[in-house]
Amino acid sequence: MANNAGIIGMGHAYPSGILTNADLEKIVDTSDEWITSRTGIKQRHKAAEGEYTSQFGTLAAKQALDRAGLKAEDIEIIICATTTPDQIMPSTGALIQAEIGARNAAGMDVFAACSGFLYGLTMVESMIRTGQIRNALVIGAEILTKYVDYTDRSTCVIFGDGAGAAVVSAVPEDRGILATKIMSDGRFAEQLYAPGGGTRMGTTKETIDGGMHFFKMKGNELFKIAVRSMADISKEMLDKAGYTVDDVDLVIPHQANQRITDAVAGRLGVPEEKVYSNIAEHGNTSSASIPIALDECLQSGKIKEGDLVLLTAFGGGVTWGGTLVRF
Ligand code: UT7
Repeated sequence: MANNAGIIGMGHAYPSGILTNADLEKIVDTSDEWITSRTGIKQRHKAAEGEYTSQFGTLAAKQALDRAGLKAEDIEIIICATTTPDQIMPSTGALIQAEIGARNAAGMDVFAACSGFLYGLTMVESMIRTGQIRNALVIGAEILTKYVDYTDRSTCVIFGDGAGAAVVSAVPEDRGILATKIMSDGRFAEQLYAPGGGTRMGTTKETIDGGMHFFKMKGNELFKIAVRSMADISKEMLDKAGYTVDDVDLVIPHQANQRITDAVAGRLGVPEEKVYSNIAEHGNTSSASIPIALDECLQSGKIKEGDLVLLTAFGGGVTWGGTLVRF
């Protein structure tokens, strides 16, 4: 018999360092007024020198396991969604596996930018549904501030650091992930990318001097695709599961920009109070943004047992996804 897959425990972590809009005013030609009105961001967490992605992924994973009441040995797959791995090899998932002692698991990474957490959820959902595995860890972990160019005001004000983790296990039939879908369109690859550091350009003095390893973003063009993609896939997931927006208790969109969140909510016809936002405190943490937000809502009691929660993401690639979950 097919199992439903559900989130049974979550955790999140982020560096203690904070970069405020006032701090950024001293670094680039920007203002608190511009950042707040164009993005909704007031501050973002920023890793210190010596801090790296798997550290925060590990903290979040340990918390998620504790809350799920499972041991690391119970986990059979660890999918770490990240665009900012500790290093190109081995995977951050394998490094987190070693730190938590998940000796019965396979650790791996998913590179799907801000949609990565929903990519991971979608992959483990089918593994659990078909009975291939019982317990998975899906982590979104990023140290984006090490990949932004602090002379480029169009990107450096947006991104922040953090990690969130979910233990996903078999749950009763009316609970858990009711519909989920992931998509990409690589034709828009150059709208948000880091050109250097890979096999195409390599890593040379020229690529480093030219800042080719930093993220480049055509924010304005992404904005429109982001709104349309997240709204459309959200509607599709509701239709697939046989619900309407009125049935949804909470929408948690990827925290890219408050104006994107507002526009998605507007297109879906969801009132503001049913849409979660923490962008003011965290900025855009890419694959970590949905699990951090979800855990905040679970811890604060904003999500209660039985609630129907709609998750939707959009990111570089371009990638997008939608997941409907009954808690
Ligand atoms: O995470 C998922 C993938 N990413 C996204 O989905 C990001 C989507 N895009 C966005 O969030 C927005 O496009 C941004 C926040 C990145 C930019 O906001 P915008 O309203 O689209 O601004 P813009 O790029 O159209 O730029 C408007 C003006 C420009 O000046 P001019 O040419 O009109 O004189 C920019 O140079 O704002 C200027 N500008 C800034 N000014 C002050 C751009 N960045 C800044 C800044 N401070 N930090």
